[in-house]
Amino acid sequence: MNKFIFSISLMLLLISCRETEVIETYSIIPQPNSLRYADEYLTSDKTFNLQANHAEGVTLRDVLMSKADQYALTFSQGSDATPLLLMYDASLSNEAYRLVVDTEKITISASSQAGWLYGFHSVVQMLPVGDAGTFQLRCGTIEDAPRFVYRGMHLDVSRHFFDLEEVKEMVDQMVHYKLNKLHLHLTDDQGWRLQIDKYPLLTQMGAWREHNGQDSTCLEKAVEDATFIIPEKHYRIINGKRMYGGFYTKAQMKELIDYCQQRNIEIIPEIDIPGHFKAAIDNYPYLSCSGEAGWGTHFSYPACLGKASTYEFIENVLSEVAELFPSKYIHIGGDEVNKDEWKRCKKCQRAIRKAGLKNEHELQSHFNHHIEEFLAAKGKQLMGWDEIVEGGVSEHSTVMWWRNWAPNTIRDAAKNGNDVIVTPDFEYYFDFTHAATPLSKVYNFEPVPDDFTEAMAARVLGVQANIWTEGIPNTDRLYYQSLPRMLALAESGWTAKDLKSYSKFEERLPRHYRYFESQDLFYHLPVLGAYEDETVFIQNTAFQLEIPLEGMTVYYTLDGSTPTQQSAVYEGPVAIDQACTVRFRAYKGDVFSKIYEAKYTQQTPADAVEASVQPGLHRSYVEGRYWNCKDVPLTNIAAAQTRVDDFGLGQYEGQSNYALVFEGYFKAEEEGVYTFYTNSDDGDQLSVHGNIIVDNNPSHGPRMRRGSIALKAGLHPLQLIYCQIGGGAVQEVFVETPGQEKRLVQPAELFCKIN
Ligand code: ACM
Ligand code: ZN
Repeated sequence: MNKFIFSISLMLLLISCRETEVIETYSIIPQPNSLRYADEYLTSDKTFNLQANHAEGVTLRDVLMSKADQYALTFSQGSDATPLLLMYDASLSNEAYRLVVDTEKITISASSQAGWLYGFHSVVQMLPVGDAGTFQLRCGTIEDAPRFVYRGMHLDVSRHFFDLEEVKEMVDQMVHYKLNKLHLHLTDDQGWRLQIDKYPLLTQMGAWREHNGQDSTCLEKAVEDATFIIPEKHYRIINGKRMYGGFYTKAQMKELIDYCQQRNIEIIPEIDIPGHFKAAIDNYPYLSCSGEAGWGTHFSYPACLGKASTYEFIENVLSEVAELFPSKYIHIGGDEVNKDEWKRCKKCQRAIRKAGLKNEHELQSHFNHHIEEFLAAKGKQLMGWDEIVEGGVSEHSTVMWWRNWAPNTIRDAAKNGNDVIVTPDFEYYFDFTHAATPLSKVYNFEPVPDDFTEAMAARVLGVQANIWTEGIPNTDRLYYQSLPRMLALAESGWTAKDLKSYSKFEERLPRHYRYFESQDLFYHLPVLGAYEDETVFIQNTAFQLEIPLEGMTVYYTLDGSTPTQQSAVYEGPVAIDQACTVRFRAYKGDVFSKIYEAKYTQQTPADAVEASVQPGLHRSYVEGRYWNCKDVPLTNIAAAQTRVDDFGLGQYEGQSNYALVFEGYFKAEEEGVYTFYTNSDDGDQLSVHGNIIVDNNPSHGPRMRRGSIALKAGLHPLQLIYCQIGGGAVQEVFVETPGQEKRLVQPAELFCKIN
């Protein structure tokens, strides 16, 4: 047998020996609203004969067939192909679908393009990822429809630019998870991204910049993390200078709009006015109050609302936007306006007097009303960030609630009859780190506040996650930030509240990680566990990890250098016998995690002290509003001391604006490493022998922090400072003694001087 024939025969043998995969449960995200399995199987190999019995279905079929590669599907009319039927059923609502897998075929019934589309994506998610060979798929029936009509992603293309192909790729991911709105933040201080014929400088100049601070920060991080590289394709030489940026021509935007429409995605364009408008003011400086672009304390100079020329400019821009985008919404931003400029501006003040307004908030509201009417005449509805509620808003505007710290705006808007989109900063901002906004927090957030009446709840159109791109210069970083959090958002937008379960969602995720890998999409790997940021040891200890996902490999260094795939592989506990920082990073294929750090400090146990003591602690009350315990004055505390049994707020529970200072001794029963934990709201710090061991400053919600110290047996001086501002109040101290589990510090371990 020649070599070639031998290899072919071997390949055929291997293929025929490959065990047939049996798919018992579907890993669909978002979880369908009704799913019944049957005890039969369909045998298939991802070759489908896609047929439609309705004109719209036929159009969609062509779109789906053009994306065969994305899902490693083959379409064929051959007799071996599994029939995949798109059937019309007028009884199903828009976006709803019924999906039946029987032993012969798969049938998707719907009354709209959206329904078939979503049924199709459910089918894709039932199948093995990639080239699977023959498999058996459990038969079953899905009846599905979304909880909310608005299931959105926002993308800031101003701070860093994403070109047409990059946005299309994100759209492909959105439709795969049944998201249907793309809110494009097209303009901001750092770049104007949409061609406006009447004001060509907006893109000729306003779309390009020399590196700003955000770019420099990305480039600094890129030294250790390639997900911060700014793509070369987004640079141009303009007037001899290397400039970063880009914009969409109207023709490109039209292409994107069509691409989205074929995928049931509505693009909501945002032109952020009157603040976040510096890219326009830089090039048309007459738009600002002072005739110059610039920055106030926090935000850029806004458009002057006392000049007719500002209104004319904005109306001209919005006319072109309204003509280009089919969406019924135009988002006008309205957030974070530096109103100090309006306070100083004679023209703005005259406008306030002339319209009988009370203040600058009402000036913005007056402007919003004007724009709202202007848009209404063009058949469009105004959408804005929740600041538009301050100063009054008509019920025809749609409000995006983002400020967790302004909870009344969503309530006022819903009571007022405004539609609202829920997009809170603490839960749905995907530019936040995964530590600050973990997947579970995104998933478990319930979008409809539990005090909403039925009428108010009916105003909640849905959910959206926002991606602000100051620190996101490329698509790898974009997906690192948004995947898999986008899947958690998608499930909150689609799946009935009672059917949601984080643990079941987690069980379905590995299939989606494999899908991301098959698409070369970056994503955030599940976090490594079982290590501590800081560990104190006396003689030796071990660096240990828990690796949460099969196929993840961890590389580490002990000398401070960057861990790469050439570094040591973590294969089990690593002995540590001298001070060091372990730097480590997980890889799965081409995807990698952030660099983690675990610091190891070797200590000689601190000597105990001799003192005449009694049980308890000395506690002093200090009046004042302290955001940081380091600011609490300690000069007079001795005079205010009372003896208490242990830590705790005592009679101060329920009061605001004070600090408590506890002083005394902790009694170590034996020599060893002691780890203290404090749980605090609004912040505390624990010192032993005068060194801060736990720095829990400032903590706006209850937060646990830890720190360790090596102690000899005996008494050790200890101080705890606690700050209370208002709202919740928590103050607890725990300890892990050598070889024991964490527990509350006991009164028997606390002593204070006999006065
Ligand atoms: C916003 O995050 N400024 C809406
Ligand atoms: Zn002005």
